[in-house]
Amino acid sequence: MKHAIILGTRPEIIKMSPVVREFNRRRFDYFLLHTGQHYSYEMDKIFFEEIGLEEPKYNLNVGSGSHGKQTGEILIGIEKILLMEKPDTVLVEGDTNSVLAGALAASKMRIKVGHVEAGLRSYDRNMPEEINRILADHCSDCLFAPTEKSREILLGEGISGEKIHVTGNTIVDAVKQNLKLANKKADALKELGLKPKKYFLVTSHRQENVDVKERLKGILKGLEKMSELHSMPVIFPIHPRTAKMISEFGLKHEGIRLTDPVGYLKFLQLEANARLVLTDSGGVQEEACVLKVPCVTLRDNTERPETVEAGANMLAGASPEKIVICAKKMMERKAEWTNPLGDGNAGTKIATIIEAQR
Ligand code: UD1
Ligand code: UDP
Repeated sequence: MKHAIILGTRPEIIKMSPVVREFNRRRFDYFLLHTGQHYSYEMDKIFFEEIGLEEPKYNLNVGSGSHGKQTGEILIGIEKILLMEKPDTVLVEGDTNSVLAGALAASKMRIKVGHVEAGLRSYDRNMPEEINRILADHCSDCLFAPTEKSREILLGEGISGEKIHVTGNTIVDAVKQNLKLANKKADALKELGLKPKKYFLVTSHRQENVDVKERLKGILKGLEKMSELHSMPVIFPIHPRTAKMISEFGLKHEGIRLTDPVGYLKFLQLEANARLVLTDSGGVQEEACVLKVPCVTLRDNTERPETVEAGANMLAGASPEKIVICAKKMMERKAEWTNPLGDGNAGTKIATIIEAQR
């Protein structure tokens, strides 16, 4: 059995790493195919170096572009490699354009598709990821659902129960595997002059937030208010899309410390020690929940409702007033929730299921 593991963006590298690690441990015959959707050093290579992943056998280097152009180029590139390599299975993770193209290319060639992190739904078609998730799930032969809820969603869409496996989310594995390493190798707080639990950590990059001037302005205003009200620094490692849009819209960001995106080890340390995390990222909502750090989500909905139900997360949208109110409520809450996202063995479970697919 030969396997292709496709990845293309920061979260895919991080969340696929526990699966790659397990494939290596079991000496599976596999290769990594990088689409090149993310390519800047701090969005891509830094993670391979830190996590200790091998360099991908292929990199399509597609770079940035409109959805159609980017997805189309990835589709064409992946098909060529799959024709040459003839793997038995293709694995994709998450909901990016790289995932959609990978699942589509493989399923049209009747290669078995495994979708890691299947069954997440925001029910908001304004987010490009929602379309990618639905299509990838419906192209897949093996759906690795992180929770019982995601399994129920897939069943509700008519996907056969035999194809669905509840494994937990590989982000729990990634946090557990890398946090110890982070505390040995990095000192992000010292570098930034921060004290534990005396700062807020922010990330924001969703297209439907940062490409809309009013929403991005609302988020920045909310963060400014948070810094003033609580006299705490707001640390915002900024995604390149967001940096570009702040400058294009000419927005002010007073009282917010913007930094370049940081590597995974430093980011985990910053998250684990933050008083509160404010984010529109999927992975960061999950990590905050696992690390027992309260989270305010800068969106009107989430495909990770388990984190809200557990009491770890609250939806604030992009209104400055609501951000401040939700932050206050979350900071008053005790971090006593149980992590609903898995036990940190998702990578092992996925490898076992794939091994049994012969
Ligand atoms: C993509 C995914 C999103 C995921 C995010 C993770 C889609 C539709 N979106 O969004 O689901 O949450 O990755 O971070 O697949 N850029 C760089 N360097 C890079 C990559 C991007 O400078 O290495 C800049 C470019 O200006 C580019 C913009 O960021 O136009 C957006 O990049 P793109 O990959 O299209 O989408 P993301 O916002 O990164
Ligand atoms: N992350 C990181 N450095 C940063 C910001 C985020 O390493 O400066 C990590 C974070 O720990 C999480 C992942 O990137 O595991 C989330 O990726 P992103 O927010 O880009 O995408 P999403 O999860 O929303 O798809």
